[in-house]
Amino acid sequence: MARRLVAGNWKMHGLGADLAEVAAVAAAPAAGCEVLLCLPATLLHRGAALAQGRIALGGQDCHRAGQGAHTGDISAAMLADAGATHVILGHSERRADHAETDAMVAAKAQAAQGAGLVAVVCLGETLGDRDAGRTLEVVAAQLAGSVPEGVDLARLVLAYEPVWAIGTGRTPTEAQIAEVHGALRAGLAARFGAAAADVPLLYGGSVKPGNAAAIFAVPDVDGALVGGASLKAAEFLAIVGALAGR
Ligand code: 13P
Repeated sequence: MARRLVAGNWKMHGLGADLAEVAAVAAAPAAGCEVLLCLPATLLHRGAALAQGRIALGGQDCHRAGQGAHTGDISAAMLADAGATHVILGHSERRADHAETDAMVAAKAQAAQGAGLVAVVCLGETLGDRDAGRTLEVVAAQLAGSVPEGVDLARLVLAYEPVWAIGTGRTPTEAQIAEVHGALRAGLAARFGAAAADVPLLYGGSVKPGNAAAIFAVPDVDGALVGGASLKAAEFLAIVGALAGR
């Protein structure tokens, strides 16, 4: 059975003063699921000192290369050195803002796992894709292209994040989430066999304390990737509680 995980993605939010939120999340006892906060890289080292291993910390992107002349980029080993155990890869904002392709995401996932990190690979359709009835086709192509051959399934997490649900307050219906998560689970099994059943499938896009329990009740949903509601410990912990109490 897949591990259950609530992951926060702080995106480009957070200064030193906000580390109190990390401390508050780490101080709360979380039974029944893993808790992960993906912080801006600038906060990882200080965040790790506060978290003291009680929650996991992650980055939000890494370079495909281990090191080199790539001004401004961050390698997976650097994230690990700063205290990260996970890294988000292929988020739709990276795909849109930095023209990241499935092949680039797969290369980053390989680099991340090579440095010992868990790769949290994101995928999801645009509203145009959904309106055109192409959701399953698009997500299947992203799954095929963004998860590298030879991936270590024990260090892989998938996050389904419909682009149109991110930061909008709109969410798919439970049936729509179930359809995509079921297709992802089947797609993983077809490619990697029975061991793929253990890969956590997260839903992301406008997850809030008020809708988390209903989303977590959907088949094949093993947790959430939370943006805005992860910035404040009280909101984030309410979502953690909804999964832990499932
Ligand atoms: P919101 O929860 O703010 O919609 O963001 C979702 C997301 O993009 C998490 O990676």
